[in-house]
Amino acid sequence: MGYPPNLERYRLAAEAGLREAIGRCSGPAALAEAMAYSLLAGGKRLRPVLVLATRAVFPPGGIDPMPVACALEFVHTYSLVHDDLPALDDDDYRRGRPSCHRRFGEATAILAGDALLTQAFWLLAQAFLGRADPAGPAVIEEIAGAAGSDGMVGGQVLDTIGAGTGLDRTVLEDVHRRKTGALIRAAVRCGAILGGASRDEFAALTSYAERIGMAFQVADDVLDVTAPATELGKTPGKDAVQGKTTWATLLGVDGARRHARGLVDAAVQDLEPLGDAARDLRSLAEFFVDRTW
Ligand code: IPE
Ligand code: IPE
Ligand code: MG
Ligand code: MG
Ligand code: MG
Repeated sequence: MGYPPNLERYRLAAEAGLREAIGRCSGPAALAEAMAYSLLAGGKRLRPVLVLATRAVFPPGGIDPMPVACALEFVHTYSLVHDDLPALDDDDYRRGRPSCHRRFGEATAILAGDALLTQAFWLLAQAFLGRADPAGPAVIEEIAGAAGSDGMVGGQVLDTIGAGTGLDRTVLEDVHRRKTGALIRAAVRCGAILGGASRDEFAALTSYAERIGMAFQVADDVLDVTAPATELGKTPGKDAVQGKTTWATLLGVDGARRHARGLVDAAVQDLEPLGDAARDLRSLAEFFVDRTW
């Protein structure tokens, strides 16, 4: 199932932005090829879509959100390339094609991931250079914090070390808040920062983001159990093979689906103070759990 039309336009814009952004990254051809292979492989682009849709809640003007949207997708793609490596999840497929290390070898995949992460911050620096707007450094702080040791990388460490040890719900929530939730939260908050959100609007959007971020990983765990590889674009059943505690093992598939639904309903409630301007964020929350890939 693809995006509804009101959201598809953000995805198409992000796709064009990413193509342009990767085209501006120079370097050895072998590296550029691996970076573009993983980046332009047709992911859902949820994080850039979140940046653009959140930015659209507010009046236009100021810093262009596209480099910010692209930077987040660069960071996310790097996280997938490294997540698939033999030392982590050892996954052969990603985004419907052989994973980066299967196609280019481990050394190139590690370095392509390194380069995608670094180029993300190069894109941000280029976009903010020479501007006095405090939104620039605020966005950098948001993305770096979400990606780093206390965010996504920290979550990956806990996920890897904790795999197979029978985590309880509180620990699982903490792992997912970091490994998946942090970048999703950053995407929404960057859109809000660029839009000049008030303190109350920022708080409402942060709560929305935290809830859909958790719902997203609940859905990912359910899809790992229920979705066919052709639709998913990655190998299903990996969590069970690795003996991982997931939302599906903790609550059962139906229980996990109900949990995700409850989170999305609460996230939609969070948007109430933003009124009709947040309509695309409402449908995006629904898409987070209705998705089949
Ligand atoms: C998959 O993310 C990895 C997790 C954080 C669970 P996505 O489901 O957003 O992957 P793409 O970007 O669409 O490939
Ligand atoms: C990975 O989580 C999250 C990242 C930070 C990349 P998973 O290991 O569950 O993601 P998939 O299922 O391989 O996409
Ligand atoms: Mg993993
Ligand atoms: Mg994985
Ligand atoms: Mg998964």
